[in-house]
Amino acid sequence: MKISVIGAGYVGLTTAACLAHIGHEVFCGESDLAKLQKLQNGEMPIFEPHLEKIVQSARESCRLRFSSTEEAVDHGEAIFICVGTPPLPNGEADLSAIERVARTIAKRASGYRLIVEKSTVPVQTGTQLRKHLGLHSRNGLTYDVASNPEFLREGSAIDDFLHPDRIVFGVDSPHAAELLRRIYEPVIQQKFSCPMHADCPKRADIPVLVTDTCSSELIKHASNSFLAMKISFINMVADLCEAAGADISQVAEGVGLDPRIGPSFLKPGIGFGGFCFPKDLQAFVRIAEKHSCDFSLLREVERINQRRVIRFVEKVKKELWVLQGKIVCVWGLAFKPNTDDVRFAPALEIIRALLAEGARVQAYDPKAMEPAQKELAAVTYCDDLYEAAKGADAVLLLTEWEEFQTVDWRRISDLVERALIIDGRNMLSRDDVVRHGFEYVGIGGVSSEHETEPALASV
Ligand code: UDX
Repeated sequence: MKISVIGAGYVGLTTAACLAHIGHEVFCGESDLAKLQKLQNGEMPIFEPHLEKIVQSARESCRLRFSSTEEAVDHGEAIFICVGTPPLPNGEADLSAIERVARTIAKRASGYRLIVEKSTVPVQTGTQLRKHLGLHSRNGLTYDVASNPEFLREGSAIDDFLHPDRIVFGVDSPHAAELLRRIYEPVIQQKFSCPMHADCPKRADIPVLVTDTCSSELIKHASNSFLAMKISFINMVADLCEAAGADISQVAEGVGLDPRIGPSFLKPGIGFGGFCFPKDLQAFVRIAEKHSCDFSLLREVERINQRRVIRFVEKVKKELWVLQGKIVCVWGLAFKPNTDDVRFAPALEIIRALLAEGARVQAYDPKAMEPAQKELAAVTYCDDLYEAAKGADAVLLLTEWEEFQTVDWRRISDLVERALIIDGRNMLSRDDVVRHGFEYVGIGGVSSEHETEPALASV
């Protein structure tokens, strides 16, 4: 099918590449000329595992082209809107990019088009889209508007697209549902060559949920807010564990064994970041307020998350006493592993707080150094994790990249000033680190002090 994807950000680029990969003829429209040129030259504007490979092969087989928004609008029978919906100062989603795309479609498109909202938008955006397309259409455009939320995690977005847990079609006509089913048929049937796994983990019976547009829009915000709530909940319990001498890793394991709760998203740490959870949570609260619903529960989720950075910095101060002039090594800058995204990354907030207290920061991240440099200049960016550890009074692990699991601890202990690891993700094995002569401080009572100084707890 001829499909257009408007917007070549994380979501748009992944969607365009995957739709082309499963056999459609895709135009991906991008309005940022510098980005468009990069894509047309075969360069990736972001790092996402497997993305470059499938973009390249789709372009070689002429199933994927990057173009202006206008050209893309002209091309597709189905048009997926994947433009950004960043937060406004009051927390609401800024829908101006969506509106601009709607106007372009209304002015240029003719004949029948299926307009699909893929960007995360407030409930009733579909209704507004329908109305405004009608108001501005010029060339006898007929259309359906559908919502098809993305559930793509950065770092595993291609996998999430091709092997989804569920697919949601929010439609208000049987024709729209039928077209979306046709578009997704190869994914639903798991009939495509898998770019990631030689032995592809095909998912049998992928649930396809067909709802009305408003419900589909709400599913996305409700899902992300629920996951954020799980993280803040476990972070709150981690604080209690720390205060009461319990171990959060054991508590989370015990809680997660209940199938009604499940083990995922129960990892405590320095809080959630990225471009989705913080903004979606705020937007959801604003949507609820507009509809006179009390979502103070989610306000608290946000507040707990904001406190994570402050608490972590306090932890560092407790260990180092005076930060002025201390060298702090930071491993990990991205908001999570396998991405170069530093938007709303707690690591950057922590670094800002440390710098403000006079510490000197030496940082290393496998992928996110360049974007971090643009945000934070006053940091020494190092070529590898060992260089970052030179002369350090503490090593802070802030993103759980796999690389940090296979560290040569002996080498590190020769490099650092003080053998102290503060693990903001509870990623490392405390016993392993302690065996190599390090002090280990984790989150939620997972620290070496409990073993070496048990009397402290009772004092
Ligand atoms: C999220 C949703 O998972 C995805 O479905 C949606 O479409 C986009 O938003 P993403 O932002 O890529 O995806 O990251 P995700 O893997 O969900 O993690 C979000 C944040 O939560 C990260 O900062 C991560 O470190 C943190 N996190 C996650 C925790 O602190 N603890 C956990 O147990 C899980």
